[in-house]
Amino acid sequence: MAGMVAAVIVAAGRGERAGGGVPKQYRDVAGEPMIRPTLAAFLAHPAIGVVQPVINSADASFYRAATAGLEELGLAKLPPPVPGGATRQASVRAGLEALAARAPELVLIHDAARPFLTDALISRAITVGEAKGAAVPAIAVADTVKRVDADDLIAETLDRDRLRMVQTPQVFAFDLILAAHRRAAAVGIENFTDDAALAEWAGHRVSVFEGETANVKVTTNEDFVRAEILHLAALSDVRIGNGFDVHAFADGDHVMLGGVRIPHSRGLTGHSDADVALHALVDAILGALADGDIGQHFPPSDPQWKGAASDRFLAFACERVRARRGMIANLDVTIVCEAPRVSPHRDAMRARIAAIAGIPLSRVAVKATTSEQLGFTGRGEGIVAMATATVRLPWSG
Ligand code: CTP
Ligand code: MG
Repeated sequence: MAGMVAAVIVAAGRGERAGGGVPKQYRDVAGEPMIRPTLAAFLAHPAIGVVQPVINSADASFYRAATAGLEELGLAKLPPPVPGGATRQASVRAGLEALAARAPELVLIHDAARPFLTDALISRAITVGEAKGAAVPAIAVADTVKRVDADDLIAETLDRDRLRMVQTPQVFAFDLILAAHRRAAAVGIENFTDDAALAEWAGHRVSVFEGETANVKVTTNEDFVRAEILHLAALSDVRIGNGFDVHAFADGDHVMLGGVRIPHSRGLTGHSDADVALHALVDAILGALADGDIGQHFPPSDPQWKGAASDRFLAFACERVRARRGMIANLDVTIVCEAPRVSPHRDAMRARIAAIAGIPLSRVAVKATTSEQLGFTGRGEGIVAMATATVRLPWSG
């Protein structure tokens, strides 16, 4: 009977080459902190029994935020992260030591900074690992590779057919790699940049198997930019939705507009907080998704929505976009009323809408106009809002 397969995900680095203030594994790639899809790929794989993250102790709150809800993919599979060390090698060792008591048969060691690996690569690593005991994914080199001397003069042209670029997940019999790590640490060698090199040093034969060209290690800021462009290119199902809402004035001392409380000589009637701007935005987003309308999801007849803050309606609509792995490209709302004056509150509304939707301020517009004293808005009987949303979804035909 085959033993348990474990994974160690190293995420304790500082990401110095990428810059950006936050360690790179917690920066967004394709709309999610990079470590999240990496962990999710291993957690979701049926052959993996445990996924041990290794993080820098200084990053505990980044880790918590980036992985919130991930346990749903397998609570028992995701033990708390353990602290890493000053080098990648030390971090891997910490992960292996944390797994030792579980006595896995095989371990896959993977960089958090490689979020694009597929299920198929994990499966291949396990199959080859079981057969060979030590193996690493690799891809052929397309360019001719030169070795240069200190003066940038070519010293040698290498035989391209014999060269490979290696990636992770690197796979090993657990006992073999743990023993090799302990030996290296015992003699004070701490600078192996991958586990294959450490296994070779310990005298083991390490095989290569087919890696994936998309399985790049996000290293520089340019890598982030490239990843973002690829992500946007994949969200090619671009949709536009519109929304419209009206609420009538009644007695009161304030109105809620765009999530902002504005003191006024009148209030607005409605089953929730009657925020016409947010309601129009919700319908615009649901319209882009072809996913019903606000009344269908939050029936006015349902007493639980009486007086409710409309924030949650907007948050719900945005969650429907995320659930389909899409993004909101922009939100635009126009408010029509004679009073209150909207412009002093415009930026507060934009900030509030952006915060609820979880999108940048630069993607939210709030505009206002009167209707030149014409019609019901002109007579001060109520407020109208019209909204547009652009939503990008993965192409599904
Ligand atoms: N890593 C680690 N512990 C370290 C150093 C690196 O766990 N002391 C992890 C990184 O978090 C990353 C992987 O090893 O997932 C590969 O390392 P690298 O791409 O070099 O990441 P960083 O060391 O964070 O980046 P940089 O070298 O640019 O500072
Ligand atoms: Mg590094």
